[in-house]
Amino acid sequence: MSSIDIGIDLGTANTIITVGGKGIVINEPSVVAYDKKKKSVLAVGEEAYRMLGRTPEYIVAMKPLADGVISDNVMAEAMVSEFIHKVSGSMLLKPRIIICVPSSVTDVETRAVVEAALSAGARKVFIIEEPIAALLGAGIDISKPNGYMVVDIGGGTADVAVVSFNGIVKSQSVKVAGNKLDEAIIRYVSQKYKLLIGEKTAENIKKTITNVYNPTGLKKMQVKGRHLLRGLPVTMEITDLDAAEAVAENVMEIIDNIKSVLEVTPPELIGDIHENGIILTGGGALLGGLDKAIAQETRVKCYVAENALECVARGVEKAFSLSEELLDGFEKISLYRYK
Ligand SMILES: Nc1ncnc2c1ncn2[C@@H]1O[C@H](COP(=O)(O)OP(=O)(O)OP(=O)(O)O)[C@@H](O)[C@H]1O
Ligand SMILES: [Mg+2]
Repeated sequence: MSSIDIGIDLGTANTIITVGGKGIVINEPSVVAYDKKKKSVLAVGEEAYRMLGRTPEYIVAMKPLADGVISDNVMAEAMVSEFIHKVSGSMLLKPRIIICVPSSVTDVETRAVVEAALSAGARKVFIIEEPIAALLGAGIDISKPNGYMVVDIGGGTADVAVVSFNGIVKSQSVKVAGNKLDEAIIRYVSQKYKLLIGEKTAENIKKTITNVYNPTGLKKMQVKGRHLLRGLPVTMEITDLDAAEAVAENVMEIIDNIKSVLEVTPPELIGDIHENGIILTGGGALLGGLDKAIAQETRVKCYVAENALECVARGVEKAFSLSEELLDGFEKISLYRYK
């Protein structure tokens, strides 16, 4: 009997778990609900998400990863071990686990996650860096001396990295991604229309009508909120022009980050990137017109990877099969930081 491999993409917004041979088995919000009286985890994922903002005092329902960093070690550990228990419940042998953590997570925080996986019964835990996983998941062969640029835009961070020969050559991350865009939409709508909308409504506007490349004003959406002056619930119409203006500054920040990585990338690799194009992954990559806006600003072609939301998780899953050939000198090639 062989042991099972569990891959975890521990994202700010979503945690995706793969189990060897079965593919993705969990894709749920990174939320944990904890019972302070019993000192135990009540729920994780979807179930805990529904409890956000709706719990009595002795229960905490929270997102332990904020802005792409672990804001609460104890809760993050509790969430990770509960997720692992969920998928490994009936496994007889201890699993090998690869975890992908956001790139801005510190070593100490990473340790906490590794400890959580070990105490949840892992035989061996590896950490994989997000850009490496994203490229593997996008189906790119990163084992050759050929440069690729990947931009992973999640909920908390937009990570830009240049990868060649299995390793990260240059990388930089900004804490401007999906969540910040939602906040910008909330601010814009409240300032322009005196309408207070919730986070979920803002996210919906972002996903449904936003186009940051060529908004026409023709795409419209009815949104519900509370009128800030009158205090009553109202419905108003928002256009794609509003949405584009709302997120413009944040989008520029993401593009500036890409430009600044391009500026410090060695010339040979710049040539490769021109040839290969910039690859976008993560949920934020799906923002309407973002690929075109990036291509226009950087003058490098740019495309969204297939299944952008799942790239990192698919890459983590693939990394298990590469572990044999990559096992020697793992530390050096930055694929796995822990053995
Ligand atoms: N169609 C869409 N258009 C714009 N944004 C989208 C779309 N679909 C999902 N998103 C956004 O993508 C983000 C989630 O992406 P993803 O699951 O890649 O993040 P994550 O991996 O949890 O975060 P991180 O990598 O920063 O830790 C959310 O902010 C969500 O609103
Ligand atoms: Mg991610």
